Amino acid sequence: MEFNFCINDVLPHRLNCIDGSMLPDSFESDDRQMIAECQQKVAIILDKIGVSSGIAQGLQTPVTSSDRLRNSDHKVYLLTNPDGDGGDGTVVGLLKIGHKKLYVFDAAGKHHELTPICVLDFYVHESMQRAGCGRMLYEHMLQAENINPEYLALDRPSEKLLGFLKKHYDLVHIIPQNNNFVVYDRFFSTNPDLL
Ligand code: ACO
Repeated sequence: MEFNFCINDVLPHRLNCIDGSMLPDSFESDDRQMIAECQQKVAIILDKIGVSSGIAQGLQTPVTSSDRLRNSDHKVYLLTNPDGDGGDGTVVGLLKIGHKKLYVFDAAGKHHELTPICVLDFYVHESMQRAGCGRMLYEHMLQAENINPEYLALDRPSEKLLGFLKKHYDLVHIIPQNNNFVVYDRFFSTNPDLL
């Protein structure tokens, strides 16, 4: 995904994390103008890739947008291709996560009130799918959040995401819930905090 400014200036690493401050984790300047300019470009990036993700999932409203991220406690991980667009860089994918308060059934049908980290949005540009980019983003997020894949809840996962988790993390057995979230059996059975 291309932009009319240099992506590598805004997102200097292949893997970047944006939080509610709307600045990448690598951003260091105290200069007000530089902060404002960077936030503005981050907003443009999030809005554009958020729309593409929404379209890819057939959603009416994008899950990821600058308005929804600003001042929230959610995070968006962004993968770039620094060599794309003649060396200006392109944005390849996004992974949005955040804590949500949920009522979750375990395998025995017992109700738990929990606030797990949830996968809220996940998208790799159509031209780059099935080439390991999603895995790169997901692995980076797992490391950064210091969490195992089975302890994440998924908000309305698509068939592609379910296939992705089966292939890369051997996640197969879903515990039925009465909301739009999906958790796997290992969410409870191997989670020391819930035993
Ligand atoms: N059909 C079925 N499974 C797929 C497809 C597809 N078109 N694309 C990816 N997968 C799954 C498969 O298991 C695939 O392995 P395979 O090629 O051996 O069958 C595996 O993902 C590939 O892994 P990666 O290359 O690391 O993943 P990729 O870069 O394709 O990213 C992603 C995965 C983000 C799900 C991507 O396919 C995508 O953007 N899909 C469209 C948007 C979407 O459905 N996002 C998830 C929404 S749900 C949510 O965010 C909570």
